[in-house]
Amino acid sequence: MPNVKDVTRESWVLSTFPEWGTWLNEEIAETVVEKGTFAMWWLGCTGLWIKTENNTNIAMDYWCGSGKRSHYDDAGSRKMMDPDHQMARMSGARQLQPNLRAVPAVLDPFAVSEIDAVFASHTHTDHIDVNLAAAVLNNVKKKTVINDVERDVPFIGSKFATDLWRSWGVPEDRLITVRPGDVIKIRDIEVTAVESVDRTILITAPPHGEVKGMACDDMDERAVSYVVKTPGGTIYHSGDSHFGNMYAKHGNQFDIDVAFGSFGENPRGITDKMTASDILRMGEDLKTKVMIPYHHDLWTNFKADTNEILVLWYMRKNRLQYQFKPFIWEVGGKFVYPDDKDKISYNYPRGFDDIFTHDINLPFPSFL
Ligand SMILES: [Fe+2]
Ligand SMILES: [Fe+2]
Repeated sequence: MPNVKDVTRESWVLSTFPEWGTWLNEEIAETVVEKGTFAMWWLGCTGLWIKTENNTNIAMDYWCGSGKRSHYDDAGSRKMMDPDHQMARMSGARQLQPNLRAVPAVLDPFAVSEIDAVFASHTHTDHIDVNLAAAVLNNVKKKTVINDVERDVPFIGSKFATDLWRSWGVPEDRLITVRPGDVIKIRDIEVTAVESVDRTILITAPPHGEVKGMACDDMDERAVSYVVKTPGGTIYHSGDSHFGNMYAKHGNQFDIDVAFGSFGENPRGITDKMTASDILRMGEDLKTKVMIPYHHDLWTNFKADTNEILVLWYMRKNRLQYQFKPFIWEVGGKFVYPDDKDKISYNYPRGFDDIFTHDINLPFPSFL
């Protein structure tokens, strides 16, 4: 029985967050993936957990932090946007961006006990996570097999991503830097790094200060996308990529079953996330079978209506002979390919599967 004398802010935080507790960790661990399929879970933003029929588990872009939490800094002054921030650079704006986290963090990183590789597409804070890094280093004892060699669970990403993990104290022998074209085998999964089309990462500091007239870094060192080939099908993970013609090239190169695109309603004067029309063009260019928008869940100032994708898809699918279907997902939800490929929309499990398996206990049956 709780007593108000024992309740503190700390006790509230620990008893309430993460909101899903270890529910999803348990669901993933208990899931037996049928032969010829793969299962995945949406962890929010562009975070994915992928599990194969041979119990290979990888996480991509898993992040469990938060966005803005206060209008003020520690000294009590109203915060302004850092002029070096990529959004300030592209917009000339200085008001603080109201990007508050709109969905819960559904997976407890400290309850992760089995994982074969941690991937990050790029270094923006919503795509790479120090908590997961610490939890994997401290809690995951089981080794994995990378390129047919047994080793500790690696952290795989672009040069900038492995530089960031290194700066957090991740040991050198855990880091694998990839560039477009590199292929890594993780037990029964084969991941190919491909070109990112994330123009926002190109204008992200470093370098700090004035960048007018400076040559941009090589995108390939800052961000990569991933093609994940499992025994049950192939996934295209595009990180924060914008729309680009590269999707048609990758659609020719790979036989993609499920593709993900960063969707969002850009604030006025900002171009960062893809719109509904871009998501459909991406699906067509990649020649995917299923096209799933992600990232629109996360930030309060980039929220977007996924019905736009469905309406446009219904309008265009016959005229343009679309060969793919969209799938509108929910954070924390599970997707099994190919079982769920025609579902169009996700709904959380509604429960009560065992209804009336026990006697009801009511004052009188006609209560019902
Ligand atoms: Fe980003
Ligand atoms: Fe992002």
